Amino acid sequence: MQTEIDRAASELKRQQVIGIPTETVYGLAGLIDSEIALNKIFSTKERPFFDPLIVHVKDQEMAAGLCEEWPKLAQVLTNAFWPGPLTLVLNKNEKVNPIITAGLPQVGIRVPNHPLTLKLLDKLNKPFAAPSANKFKKTSPTTAEHVREEFPDLYILDGGPCEVGIESTVVGLNKVNDQYELVIYRPGMISSDDINSVLKKNNLNTKIVQKESPVSPGAMEHHYMPALPLIVLENSSKFESDLLEALHKLHINQDEVYELVLPKEAAIAARSLYKDLRKISKSNAKAILIKIYKHHHEKNWEGILNRVYKARSYPR
Ligand code: TXA
Ligand code: MG
Repeated sequence: MQTEIDRAASELKRQQVIGIPTETVYGLAGLIDSEIALNKIFSTKERPFFDPLIVHVKDQEMAAGLCEEWPKLAQVLTNAFWPGPLTLVLNKNEKVNPIITAGLPQVGIRVPNHPLTLKLLDKLNKPFAAPSANKFKKTSPTTAEHVREEFPDLYILDGGPCEVGIESTVVGLNKVNDQYELVIYRPGMISSDDINSVLKKNNLNTKIVQKESPVSPGAMEHHYMPALPLIVLENSSKFESDLLEALHKLHINQDEVYELVLPKEAAIAARSLYKDLRKISKSNAKAILIKIYKHHHEKNWEGILNRVYKARSYPR
């Protein structure tokens, strides 16, 4: 009997793109050795070619096989965090088609932590590229149903709801004067503190730089946007007047705003953020409000806060 994994594998081998589950968000996958599939990823997502794709592999060895060099730092970080929501950006070799990297000399790679997708990678024994399975700039999908709503004709390997809920932490390993420096291009649920403690445990004093990649539209304003305007306001003594001003500017009454209260625990907040933004966007509310408190500025919230601020339409 043909399993869903067999079906997914055969679609990919036919140079099709498919929806795949990961622990972070659903991906739109195509084999990296098929230019047809790679081009389909961009056209399906309506994504510009200057935005590089993340390559998904089954293990460290497959990752190293795509890189010019696999430094000790990569081995240490991946020992700690793979399979999991960490993407490493390293110098690529000739096996990586420049379509994947938007012509850049570096490629983003990760081992996703989802049993079905790991089985699929194992069966294929080949890497696939997969951006999040949403139209460019829109909210990423965290269930197969979300993907189906946006791409009704796509074959989707249904792996249930995503556990992590926001995209992976993207970290560049850059050689500066023979030493590697670590650059966080996109924060996620693996925080800079988590990375720091792994470096310390391994007696590495690698410098960590937080810098949004200029090549990465995840770094552009207006990303991850829900269908309704999202108002994001810090909790302050001016909160009430800030809110009134926002409503006035957006021509919305107070009772037309749905407040999305972020769950207390960061892991739960990440898991539900995109699902909740999608759900509220389907209600008859006219805008969504998220109120940001002091504790949201702690390290374990950095990925969530980054997505909330990118998704907002007010203030701008
Ligand atoms: O969790 C995730 O990472 C999900 C799942 C499906 O794995 N994928 C994902 O892919 O979020 P995507 O395409 O939506 O985001 C890819 C982002 C780029 O926009 C950029 O921020 C960064 O990853 N990236 C990829 N390759 C890069 C490179 N060579 N240099 C700098 N940033 C890169
Ligand atoms: Mg995306």
